[in-house]
Amino acid sequence: MEIKTTMRELKLIEELLKQLTLEEKIGMIHGAGLFRTEGVERLDIPPVYMSDGPMGVRAEFADNEWRSVGTTEDFVSYMPCNSAIAATWNTEIAERAGEVLGEEARGRGKDVILAPGINIKRSPLCGRNFEYMSEDPRLVEELVVPMIQGIQKYDVAACVKHFAANSQETERLWVDTIVDRRTLEEIYFPGFKAAVEKGGVFSLMGAYNLLNGEHCCTSKSLLNQVLREEWNFDGMIVSDWGGVHDTKLAAESALDIEMDVTYAFDKHNMAQPLLEKIQSGEISEECVDEKVRNILRMMLRLNMIGENKEHRCRGAYNTEEHRRSLLNAARESVILLKNEEGLLPLDEEKTKKIAVIGQNAAAIHSNGGGSAEIKALYEISPLMGIKKLLGGNTKVCYAPGYVIPGKDNKSDINWQADSTKHLEEEKTQTVEEQNSMQTKQEEEYREEALRLASECDTVIFVGGLNHDYDLEGQDRADMKLPYGQDKLLEALLEVNPNVITVIYAGSPVEMPWADKAKAIVWSYYAGMEGGTAIAEVLFGRVNPSGKLAETLIQESSQCPAHTIGTYAKKDKVEYKEGVMVGYRYYDTQNTPVHFCFGHGLSYTAFEYTDMEVSLLNIKREDKIRKAVCVVCNLKNIGDREGAEVVQLYVKPINSQHNRPMHELKAFKKVFLKPQEKKRVEFMLDSRDFTYYDMGRQKFVIEACEYEIEIGASSRDIRLCKSIIL
Ligand code: BGC
Repeated sequence: MEIKTTMRELKLIEELLKQLTLEEKIGMIHGAGLFRTEGVERLDIPPVYMSDGPMGVRAEFADNEWRSVGTTEDFVSYMPCNSAIAATWNTEIAERAGEVLGEEARGRGKDVILAPGINIKRSPLCGRNFEYMSEDPRLVEELVVPMIQGIQKYDVAACVKHFAANSQETERLWVDTIVDRRTLEEIYFPGFKAAVEKGGVFSLMGAYNLLNGEHCCTSKSLLNQVLREEWNFDGMIVSDWGGVHDTKLAAESALDIEMDVTYAFDKHNMAQPLLEKIQSGEISEECVDEKVRNILRMMLRLNMIGENKEHRCRGAYNTEEHRRSLLNAARESVILLKNEEGLLPLDEEKTKKIAVIGQNAAAIHSNGGGSAEIKALYEISPLMGIKKLLGGNTKVCYAPGYVIPGKDNKSDINWQADSTKHLEEEKTQTVEEQNSMQTKQEEEYREEALRLASECDTVIFVGGLNHDYDLEGQDRADMKLPYGQDKLLEALLEVNPNVITVIYAGSPVEMPWADKAKAIVWSYYAGMEGGTAIAEVLFGRVNPSGKLAETLIQESSQCPAHTIGTYAKKDKVEYKEGVMVGYRYYDTQNTPVHFCFGHGLSYTAFEYTDMEVSLLNIKREDKIRKAVCVVCNLKNIGDREGAEVVQLYVKPINSQHNRPMHELKAFKKVFLKPQEKKRVEFMLDSRDFTYYDMGRQKFVIEACEYEIEIGASSRDIRLCKSIIL
């Protein structure tokens, strides 16, 4: 999507530029508050107000202190995280999620929403994986474009982040990420390139890390060369908060706004230090002019200035419509990983007593995670979702099952209980006493859970992670479930083999009990209605249609980022695994995994038939291009309506290059009534057969045979035909 600046707009920009003093321009290109720049009142140029983040508009912060202002106007709709949106594999959901975020951001008076985060999930251990979409660049590309367009409908700039190759949190400000050009072009760039070229994104955030020796936020190769020259990006580039370390580099790079975490706004590189360097002649004022031009251009696009100012979208937040859309997104994001003996869905009429076990059944997640945290208007936990759905005639027995150390597992003491305190002896506990209390509590919780599991026919375990693990600024040490959940689950499955396991998390976990568990449901942090969606899936009111946008491996040591490349190192990480990221590696190596990329079951079944592949000449932009048309039939052969994500992978046969076994090139989510059949069509173009040739420094098609695979996951290929190119 090319956004053109009209001659009139260009004139306005130049006119404003002429009238601005150097000091005023400097004010516009660095943080003057934690989330804003300075405006120029006399010329009617407003400050740029920014806000995190990806899961809703973040709480209002004091201008010069990392303290939420603590008022009540900033409770907002809590969105499913990007991993959840990706699990829907639905471009319309992505667009609607964008619309909700954009409208809420505008409703809160923001100009730039610091989202979506689209870094590639290189390792399951990255603390911010929940903020990102997938291990697959094509899936990211297809979802990020409608999401950006959704956001920007409301005169708010999306700010796609963090550019680039920012896939670890360990030492994130200083780690040098070594990645070759092919890997960047095939894996780490496509999402950003699509955001710019197809999504028409108005702004972009640089990453904290260095890439091949240059700090991303001031990297001339990344920002000037790739973004501005190769992709023609003329939007606004903002640094990550505190990602700028050098005034001259910042001035000469294509960075437009420097943001920082400190309150000494005048000391930012692009504040007083830059002003002085310009005044002394060391740096030319033209550098600043270019930045101001980009900022003014973004302001024009957002109707912050210019003739349409009066008609700027006013936005809205916490609307009923938003909540409905987010519920819909949450419903489509739930993934049914396993369902033996038709254990699910549960029958709500027949369920008279049910045990719900596990801290995540009752936990609230919206207020954690780092910059993605928000003040949610409300958040329905899975336990509430289940109770809400079943009503008062069913006995729902909840047991936490395991202890989260440091969190008081007892409910708050109220004044009535407090008033009886004098009856007890006051005593401060030693560490030993605390530990033994914890052990005692662990035993009590475990016993209670096991007793319930043996007493109840229906047992739902809801465990997983929380934002102590899925967290900005830190990576996980391994993929193990914390708090002794594995042991508890094994024991629960021992006393009741029909325990239904729900994992609520932001990134993959080890599942040593996976073979024993008959039914496993996966949900990412799914927003304010996440618990409703889980309950509806468990009881069959919603037929699950989510699919994995990342491989669930058995343990992190299987991940090529750890075995071939390096990960979570302090000074330098080397992406030696190259393009072999996620299923590209696991499927090529036939690695045993728990659940493969693209996997997700339904309560109905789908039949794939009648695949046809034909080579076509199509006319696009007045040019005749070759295209490969792939069609097949998809039929719902069950008696429930449902949706299937038809996935298309391209597999080069006998490639002479180090190429993955196959790669996702297209997908479609198809909704079918019972017994309904639809024709599914895909149009591939030459790009879908290319790889990046380092020697020639461009994408090239390898002349060889290709298999076109159509399937329900990367390892459940239902139809296949080959073509020779
Ligand atoms: C994060 C960004 C975020 C910014 C502002 C940084 O620490 O990396 O994603 O937008 O803070 O809160």
